[in-house]
Amino acid sequence: MPGDKSISHRAAMIAALAEGPSRNTNFSNSADCAATLSCLTQLGVSIERDGHELLVHGAGANGLRARVEPLDCGNSGTTMRLLAGILAGQNFKSTLTGDESLRSRPMARIIEPLRMMGASISSRDGRAPLMIEGRKPLKEINYDLLVASAQVKSCILLAGLSAEGRTAVTENEPTRDHTERMLRWFGVPLEVSDVEGLRAVTVDGPARFNARDVSIPGDISSAAYFIAAAALLPGSSLEITNVGVNPTRVMFLERLRSWGFDVAVSDVSEECNEPVGTICISGSKSSALSDFESAAPLRGPLIPQLIDELPLLAVVGSQIEGGIEVRDAAELRAKESDRIAATVQSLRAMGAEVEEFKDGLRVAGPTQLRGAEIDPRGDHRIAMAFSVAALIAEEETKIKDAECVAVSFPEFFELLESVVER
Ligand code: S3P
Repeated sequence: MPGDKSISHRAAMIAALAEGPSRNTNFSNSADCAATLSCLTQLGVSIERDGHELLVHGAGANGLRARVEPLDCGNSGTTMRLLAGILAGQNFKSTLTGDESLRSRPMARIIEPLRMMGASISSRDGRAPLMIEGRKPLKEINYDLLVASAQVKSCILLAGLSAEGRTAVTENEPTRDHTERMLRWFGVPLEVSDVEGLRAVTVDGPARFNARDVSIPGDISSAAYFIAAAALLPGSSLEITNVGVNPTRVMFLERLRSWGFDVAVSDVSEECNEPVGTICISGSKSSALSDFESAAPLRGPLIPQLIDELPLLAVVGSQIEGGIEVRDAAELRAKESDRIAATVQSLRAMGAEVEEFKDGLRVAGPTQLRGAEIDPRGDHRIAMAFSVAALIAEEETKIKDAECVAVSFPEFFELLESVVER
């Protein structure tokens, strides 16, 4: 699998703030991570790239340079939200913008804590473009996350690197912890405490740290499409090596297992503070488990742990006895597209029976899907989820603007063709 997108963003940004050169291997070739590299370069960071290898010449805590022109984050929420945290702590002004999808996504969630830390930020009613007037040093804060979002948590932690004192972020639903792991890898002291389900992360600033090489694990969210395809196509057998199996990212595998699919993780080792392993999956018809766990709606604290896999899980759910119900997932409407609406519309087009809720959906199953014309609304994860649906559908499926997969996974179709037997 190509390098993990979430980890690649963090590796590049944190290396940019370190002192000295960091070599990055298996860096994601996604358009999203290219947006991060382009913004960092425009901020004066020298980055040499050779395919999946990067050499980032860290500018150090005070080395970023002001950029008058707006920085274009493309389609990437992670680029915008994490970079905003870094720019809030610089003593210059910058503007962050993005494509139409990104300019429609909620940014008040980062504007509020960054203002509390002393940055001045103006926006178009809580949306990008964001005009950030940084301040050095920022003020420390204790912040309770209002939305379970790793992007917001990471934004505050990165701002905390340029704050005077101890910045704390508390979450009551666990979200991916790649920023914490990467900061530790670079030697930044970070404390994590877990008290009665509340997870608090603290970082001391101003922080100065040295460069370090990083090897990026394969992307489990990209692997998920292959895992689902292998699970749904009887007789398949697929092994995916060197893939990240961070506990905050593997809930999708748990759910497949609870449905009776044969998914195994083996050979787990640590690489740059991230667990990496091999995932094996064989195609077997689900044994129609109807136990409580697999029949209960997916909701609550589970949701942030499989947020990017939910459209795909809805596709798999359409093949399961009892179907699938997802609740507490209104956040899905604020992703690259309204993923609840896009999933409901696409599944219905393929003949599934689906009920839409404000915060989720219910899909009946099992249903024989039929080919249809799918509009993924420019959203890479919808295009890939429905490519998997297409594999198990009768007749042909046409996915419009399918090249949007390049946002996270440019070689998706090529790789899919190479593993699917006709
Ligand atoms: C990401 C966090 C998630 C996820 C996104 C990547 C990250 O967003 O949906 O694709 O890299 O931190 P939220 O944390 O805002 O839910």
